[in-house]
Amino acid sequence: MRIIRKVDQLRGALAQLRDKGLTIGLVPTMGALHAGHRSLVDRSVKENDATVVSVFVNPTQFNNPADLATYPRTEEADAALLEQAGVDIAFIPSVEEIYPEKDDTQWDLGPVAEVMEGPMRPGHFNGVCQIVSRLFNYVNPDRAYFGEKDFQQIAVIRRMTQIMGSPIEIVACPIVREDDGLALSSRNVRLSKEQRAIAPHIHRVLAKSLDWKAEGLTPREVIDRVVAEINSQPGLEVEYYEIVDAITMQPVDAWPKDGETPAAGCVTVYCGDVRLIDNIKY
Ligand code: PAF
Repeated sequence: MRIIRKVDQLRGALAQLRDKGLTIGLVPTMGALHAGHRSLVDRSVKENDATVVSVFVNPTQFNNPADLATYPRTEEADAALLEQAGVDIAFIPSVEEIYPEKDDTQWDLGPVAEVMEGPMRPGHFNGVCQIVSRLFNYVNPDRAYFGEKDFQQIAVIRRMTQIMGSPIEIVACPIVREDDGLALSSRNVRLSKEQRAIAPHIHRVLAKSLDWKAEGLTPREVIDRVVAEINSQPGLEVEYYEIVDAITMQPVDAWPKDGETPAAGCVTVYCGDVRLIDNIKY
């Protein structure tokens, strides 16, 4: 595996791969890699001739400076994981390399970005598009892999790809969970022992909500019950829970019929000062 830190070198290495007619998969990450990232990498390695993984804590997508400052950085362990996974190129640039000048691009993403994380984290999706569009531009992969834990992010990136007129295939990969149901996240390392013990309650409640739907509750009633059940666990506080169309991200007031786009329940929960997100498909 080559570790590349400069955009020019990355372009040069990729040109050689393209000359050989190889297909390229891209897995954008912010490092602190865990089994969830590993599942994206494994899929890319399986589906493409060569895989590039970027490791870059993108400052423009953090609307909270404390979150950026405390975001875990584990470059050595990340490189070892990627090497072991059979990655061809780990792209690990500095902030100056990616943003030699301030990026003032404003992405007009429309309704997919105007709900849930959109208003809760102003500027977040714009920052995600700033970095992902740059990575798409440098790498020009055949496929790019994203985890469904950040469910709305995938919808936003699909929209961005459409705006760019890009043929890159966006591959959504399922959430990977701990044995007790907690969705894997780089932020989980910030949970105290006590917080780690209560955090799986989030997924337990989401899983139970499938039964409430089957019992005949409406989406509105399921939302209210999920919020009440999660909040009943001391130490957890729901920021929002929405049930949305899995493609448009717009709230639904009736369950989809067979053959229609599924609905997704997307939740954000504070466990102390750690913001956890999770989702479930209905
Ligand atoms: O999902 C993430 O880790 C980030 O938002 C991404 C896609 C790597 C962009 O920085």
